[in-house]
Amino acid sequence: MAESDKIRELREKKARALLGGGEERVAKQHEKGKLTARERLELLLDEGSFEELDMLNRHRCRDFGLDKIKYPGDGVVTGYGYINGRLVYVFSQDFTVFGGSLSETHAEKICKIMDMAMKNGAPVIGLNDSGGARIQEGVVSLGAYAEIFLRNTLASGVVPQISAILGPCAGGAVYSPAITDFIFMVENTSYMFVTGPNVVKTVTHEDISSEELGGADTHATRSGVAHFKYASEMDVLENIRTLLSFLPQNNAEDPPMAQTDDPADRMDPELNTLVPENPNKPYDMRDIILRVVDDQDFFEVHKDYAENIVVGFARLAGRPVGIVANQPGVLAGVLDINSSLKGARFVRFCDAFNIPLITFVDVPGFLPGTDQEWGGIIKHGAKLLYAYCEATVPKITVITRKAYGGAYDVMSSKHIRGDINYAWPSAEIAVMGPKGAVEIIFRKEIQAAKDREAALEQKIAEYRERFANPYLAADRGYIDDVIEPLQTRPKLISALKMLENKVDSNPRKKHGNIPL
Ligand code: HXC
Repeated sequence: MAESDKIRELREKKARALLGGGEERVAKQHEKGKLTARERLELLLDEGSFEELDMLNRHRCRDFGLDKIKYPGDGVVTGYGYINGRLVYVFSQDFTVFGGSLSETHAEKICKIMDMAMKNGAPVIGLNDSGGARIQEGVVSLGAYAEIFLRNTLASGVVPQISAILGPCAGGAVYSPAITDFIFMVENTSYMFVTGPNVVKTVTHEDISSEELGGADTHATRSGVAHFKYASEMDVLENIRTLLSFLPQNNAEDPPMAQTDDPADRMDPELNTLVPENPNKPYDMRDIILRVVDDQDFFEVHKDYAENIVVGFARLAGRPVGIVANQPGVLAGVLDINSSLKGARFVRFCDAFNIPLITFVDVPGFLPGTDQEWGGIIKHGAKLLYAYCEATVPKITVITRKAYGGAYDVMSSKHIRGDINYAWPSAEIAVMGPKGAVEIIFRKEIQAAKDREAALEQKIAEYRERFANPYLAADRGYIDDVIEPLQTRPKLISALKMLENKVDSNPRKKHGNIPL
């Protein structure tokens, strides 16, 4: 073959690979409102930065006539590229080839880039759009999935792993995204479930659509499986880029500094009046977060799930931080099963990737009730406590109002290695709220009183005066300082700078036994 023929042959092979499953199937994909695997990568990565690997790999299956149908690339586009100039490894499943189903070859391609990501210390982003195990390959496909699950697990806490669900993701296939750090979903065209509507109908006689059973809304609000949901694939891909701007490349690096014009010494007088005088009146903790962080830029995670706790990323003087905050505007900011899980997972992510934790506290305690007790609030609440206890990143706490009972201990208190703990003058730090407390300790006196209402009110006032403030805690050094709310931003920035070289560690062990 002449040199030019060889080059022509190569070009033809590559052109064929670029077609995926062919024009007709690509048109079908577009009709569903979905982009192709390569179009998605173009939007995700810096322009022209994608380097594809294994474009010419093909499946090895000979059953069911598959030896006669082969597509170069075999239903997944893999390689590396850059996001804001930083290296990432990517795979993007191509639904136009055998419905993006996972063959042995398809899995080998994914494993190859995951192994490279581990060796070279860079995030892995998976764009999922697949009919699951390649049915014709049988058990080989199951083994291939397991190879990916193993790598997801070994990579956990070493490099960030991000999953976007942009089509079907069903059966055991859901467990790869589930092990990754963040799941993005797109509304109306993506779904995740272990068993689909037909099986559900057979087993439980429930009639339910795919969207309702496992769509973006369901997972972002009810199950908490998805951390982010957006209206379009474009929004999903854009927001993956934003998320990465807060994260280090791997667990040996610090998160990247950003430029900001927001002054480090900026004080916000509005903060001094933001917490209502009446301790039972709600307010939106997000108002505080937005007023404190750089440029009012707060990238919220799990926004629509367990809204009684708020978690997300922001920056202080350009330095990325993870924010965990009770939300008095929802269920009075109480800790329950879901908010404990949400908080714990976020705290562990930040700790794994050297992202300092800023905790804003306004929590009346744990939610009472049979639902919670029978649902295991003991073990789930313990997860949040455990996560904070084991975290060795800089931990700075600001108590804005209530910090009652066990929830006081849990929310990054001094006793579990909070580095700097501030309280606002409106803080109430005690074993329990005034009413509950006096009803227990003064029960007999109140019952004996002529006017029980008045006696109760008087005892509550006395208790509030004595205990519902930050000064007893400050007296013991549990609070490092009581600050004016308007000072919060400069104080946090100063503390973060002071903690820049913090070294702390946990005892040597294989791994702890977090109460799962
Ligand atoms: C091989 C598959 C496939 C699969 C789809 N295709 N799923 N080929 N293995 N798992 C092929 C179809 O034959 C079709 O080929 C093309 O992909 C597009 O599929 P359609 O059915 O036409 O698309 P659509 O109507 O959009 O439906 C998508 C779908 C459906 C809902 C995903 O295809 C489907 O139900 N597929 C099977 C899902 C499934 O049961 N998978 C196994 C689950 S068990 P042509 O040539 O016509 O374009 C599993 C276990 C994993 O995944 C375990 C891990 C431990």
